[in-house]
Amino acid sequence: MAKKIVSDLQVKGKKVLIRVDFNVPMKNGVITDDTRVRAALPTIEYVVNNGGKAIVFSHLGRVKEEADILKNDIAPVAKRLEELIKKPVKFVNATRGKELEDAVNQLKEGEILMFQNTRYEDYDVQAQKETKYESKNNAELGAYWASLGDVFVNDAFGTAHRAAASNVGIAANVKETAAGFLLEKEIKFIGGAVDEPKRPYVAILGGSKVSDKIGVIEALIAKADKILVGGAMMFTFLKAQGYNIGASRCEEDKLDLAKDLLAKANGKIVLPVDAVVNKAFEDVPGVNKSIDAFDADDMGLDIGSKTLELFAENLNGAKTVVWNGPMGVFEMKNYAAGTIGVCELLAKLTTEGAQTIIGGGDSAAAAEQLGYASKVSHISTGGGASLEYLEGKVLPGIACVDEI
Ligand code: 3PG
Repeated sequence: MAKKIVSDLQVKGKKVLIRVDFNVPMKNGVITDDTRVRAALPTIEYVVNNGGKAIVFSHLGRVKEEADILKNDIAPVAKRLEELIKKPVKFVNATRGKELEDAVNQLKEGEILMFQNTRYEDYDVQAQKETKYESKNNAELGAYWASLGDVFVNDAFGTAHRAAASNVGIAANVKETAAGFLLEKEIKFIGGAVDEPKRPYVAILGGSKVSDKIGVIEALIAKADKILVGGAMMFTFLKAQGYNIGASRCEEDKLDLAKDLLAKANGKIVLPVDAVVNKAFEDVPGVNKSIDAFDADDMGLDIGSKTLELFAENLNGAKTVVWNGPMGVFEMKNYAAGTIGVCELLAKLTTEGAQTIIGGGDSAAAAEQLGYASKVSHISTGGGASLEYLEGKVLPGIACVDEI
């Protein structure tokens, strides 16, 4: 069944609660990547352009002790929203209470209010203790936030794997819950790949650890036609197959698991045949070596050129491609070629009509930084959420949205 979307709601004159994921990276109070703010704009714009009163809120960081409160002030993000949406955003420095309630009740049609970090509710300053009211979905808190609005729009895909007061708690206490346009897009692309992928369906996995991706690898073994593995995790698989991986990164305690996964995959997992190696972890030119020719002090930092050709062959004609995790240390220009090569392959497949999806996290950041963001079908805004979704898990933040 399809989910109700914000455009299915009557928003005119209504107080519309909009849960977004503005958990953006910040350095000294300055936002270093505002992708998530930009991604939420269509939903907020839709609400205000149709006469709704937008009440926007998000978590930022994790609040476990008093010091985390100052560190995770969401005011700079409200400022950024104001700049991007080109309309005033009234910021309320509270998560509950009279000031917030008055501000909400004074909102006029088409106006936007944003309130403080929902995770301030995870710590009680007076009692000096961690309460986790937001993160553990305290029933009273969800009901309180719900009481501030008339309808609820969840557009926070990045948080959809968490059952919090600000998503499922509110949804349980309002008459209507709809998905925002970003959540709708994530469901369409990632949900589409999980539920009915057009075949051939090829997954590309990278990143450093096999242990971070066990659930996804198992799910993909059951669903995908091929799984291409790069990134440092390739060395755990290669060592499990008996290769000498020199000084490359490896999870020694996951070798048996890697063996089991390879056996279960029954040929679906495609491993690199070469890598770019260096003697130290530094950004100087490396040497392209076959994976059966490593010296004891060789450290693999990227997939090699033959591997890219092998991946291209396996991707040829693919109709659905999901990619999660960089192929090498792409932050170092000498070890970015594998990740750039995968971006190129995805861009080409997109023009050929394939659905190409980049799971959030590092691979999304890589595609953005390398200039490929507009050349793939979809880049997810969720890290953990996109991985859990790909695993086939039910995400509470999606489950709580009404069906149409
Ligand atoms: C994320 O960035 O993955 C989401 O915003 C969730 O954040 P969390 O892992 O702190 O719950």
